Amino acid sequence: MEVVHTPVLVEEAIRCLRPDASGGLMVDATLGEGGHSFAFLSRFPGLRILGIDADREIQQAARERLAVFGDRISFYTGWSQDFFADLEAQGGERPDMILIDLGVSHFHYVRGGRGFSFQRDEELDMRIDPERGESAGALLKRLPERELADLLYNYGGERFSRRIARLIVEERRRSPVRSSLALAELVSRAVPAAYRRGPVHPATRTFLALRIAANRELERLPALLEAAMSALKPGGRLAVISFHSGEDRLVKHYFRERCGPSRRTGDAPIHGEGAEVFRLLTPRAVGPQAEEAERNPPSRSAKLRAVEKLSEEDGA
Ligand SMILES: C[S@@+](CC[C@H](N)C(=O)[O-])C[C@H]1O[C@@H](n2cnc3c(N)ncnc32)[C@H](O)[C@@H]1O
Repeated sequence: MEVVHTPVLVEEAIRCLRPDASGGLMVDATLGEGGHSFAFLSRFPGLRILGIDADREIQQAARERLAVFGDRISFYTGWSQDFFADLEAQGGERPDMILIDLGVSHFHYVRGGRGFSFQRDEELDMRIDPERGESAGALLKRLPERELADLLYNYGGERFSRRIARLIVEERRRSPVRSSLALAELVSRAVPAAYRRGPVHPATRTFLALRIAANRELERLPALLEAAMSALKPGGRLAVISFHSGEDRLVKHYFRERCGPSRRTGDAPIHGEGAEVFRLLTPRAVGPQAEEAERNPPSRSAKLRAVEKLSEEDGA
């Protein structure tokens, strides 16, 4: 199957995670079509990767693509935080490296068939794992106007959230909004004409907000970071790539809190409050080089942050 997603910040992730030729285990906690894993496995012949995705369909595409690496690649289908939290039951091997590339893949927009894109007419589902949770369509049908407006504003930064929520509620009295094109058309009607003529489609922020809500992305993130940091081997490294400000803020604060108040970097250990000691590897978020931003426009909003686990002893 043709690959549709271009991985972002590959060189930067390699530089932060620092795999070496002799091996080690990396967990690719958001495997997608396996773009990062493909690059890592090709470049580091001793490396093994365990690839996790909550979406069976995209994982199947990755399985086919990565089959050339034989037993150097293995898979887990499900949410990464559940995997890390239950590491013992999964064989118990602690990873030397963890990569988390948040959000959804370009695959979801073009092949997902679940209403991720306003350029296709599909049922409004937007769940990464369509067997669990509440779909975007169900949220639009159930939430009171005020909650809908808050969701669009808080998750998507949509400044016309109130107007959009009002029209959704008015429309659903006649018939609930069920498809991606119907929602895109409704948003276009709800917003001022000048906004409709802006550089991005007026429904962009509404779609982002609904996707975040349907997958409970911001609620899941702290548990994912916590479980990943605790699963990591002492000496191991974790890199997280995020794509919107809510996510990045959460990662930044979480890492800073775990690395201690001084936020120093370099070789001096920073003592966290618990028994685990972490060092911040990225004093500032790392973004794409100009060449990557030009070649792959979705990379423009990508930000990478990384930490190293120094030890698990008491840092005192
Ligand atoms: C941005 S894409 C990853 C792209 C991938 N790095 C590549 O190069 O092809 C994120 C992927 O992770 C999955 N995903 C997102 N959050 C997840 C989580 N908490 N647990 C498991 N899978 C997750 C999504 O289904 C999606 O396929």
